[in-house]
Amino acid sequence: MTTQPPPPRPPQRPRPPQGAFYLVERPRRNRQSPGLRQLVRETALEPSHLVLPVFVAEGRDRREPIAAMPGCERLSIDHVVALGRRAWQLGIPALALFPVLPEQRKDRLATESRNPEGLLQQAVRALKQAVPELVVITDVAMDPYSSDGHDGLVENGEIANDPTLPILAEMALAQAQAGADIVAPSDMMDGRVGFLRQALDDAGYTRVGILAYSVKYASAFYGPFRQALDSAPRHGDKQTYQMDPANVREALREVRLDVAQGADIVMVKPALPYLDVIAAVRAAVDVPVAAYSVSGEYAMIKHAARAGALDEQAALLESLLAIRRAGADIILTYAALELAERLQGGGA
Ligand code: PBG
Repeated sequence: MTTQPPPPRPPQRPRPPQGAFYLVERPRRNRQSPGLRQLVRETALEPSHLVLPVFVAEGRDRREPIAAMPGCERLSIDHVVALGRRAWQLGIPALALFPVLPEQRKDRLATESRNPEGLLQQAVRALKQAVPELVVITDVAMDPYSSDGHDGLVENGEIANDPTLPILAEMALAQAQAGADIVAPSDMMDGRVGFLRQALDDAGYTRVGILAYSVKYASAFYGPFRQALDSAPRHGDKQTYQMDPANVREALREVRLDVAQGADIVMVKPALPYLDVIAAVRAAVDVPVAAYSVSGEYAMIKHAARAGALDEQAALLESLLAIRRAGADIILTYAALELAERLQGGGA
């Protein structure tokens, strides 16, 4: 019979100083240097995650500041193209375009939205010609072109769902024909994703994607955007089609419907007040999830910073990082360019 050597003694824990309790876990150990903090970082925020929304105005060499959104301007197409070049250089893969039309070009049927030579279509063509790789996303909804300021067709004082669909489809086709890579219905009419998919496919635009504003709340945070476009509803509000901020199960129903109808990417909007919704949507579907950090979110930070209440860059970074952490793959933000500049400079 051989005698086994005694098992090694487990290392002794250092004795706690007399009278103190002993800390087994010290989370601060992982935070003590910039290198360590980088190693253990769970979420990344890169220019490649961002989409820059842009307001396109008529005319040439025009840049008009938007008072409610410091740092944002309405730009004529030549400036939009320059911005597109700059965004691409900085690693921002996509622009989302919104047209600003003068009142005289708006009507009940949003006719201008289907004009092949309309402002938005011209902007798409110019961008795709100048920066072909840049992804161009166009908005599908009636409000920028509507004398009623609603996303759908107004009939007898109500927003008529089914009569709106063919109008949206024609709009999307005009955008696809101009070269849009992705059309983004933001109107919240029922059934529009399937309707658009079919119309695009029938016309041969199978390559054009659909980014569905699946979960769009009736939000006070769109105020600055409506000022920028002068697109506020002329009567009533948008509560019969946009979602109640109180609801999250309904959000999951909306995304499931849109994915079933062919959405390539689904979106939650606004972003910061709806992080729980972003997380729930991320868990419910396997298509990419976008979040729109809307005009009011941007304006809050910009105006608070101007009042000396906040560090603007830090607050922007923190907000967008939180939106990524909640589960957004893609963020639409008016701060995309300044952030990309900052991130390229080794910021974050
Ligand atoms: C409407 C639309 C809105 C926004 C994008 N598309 C506003 C609205 O529903 O009235 C808002 C974006 C923002 O506030 O930044 N189709």
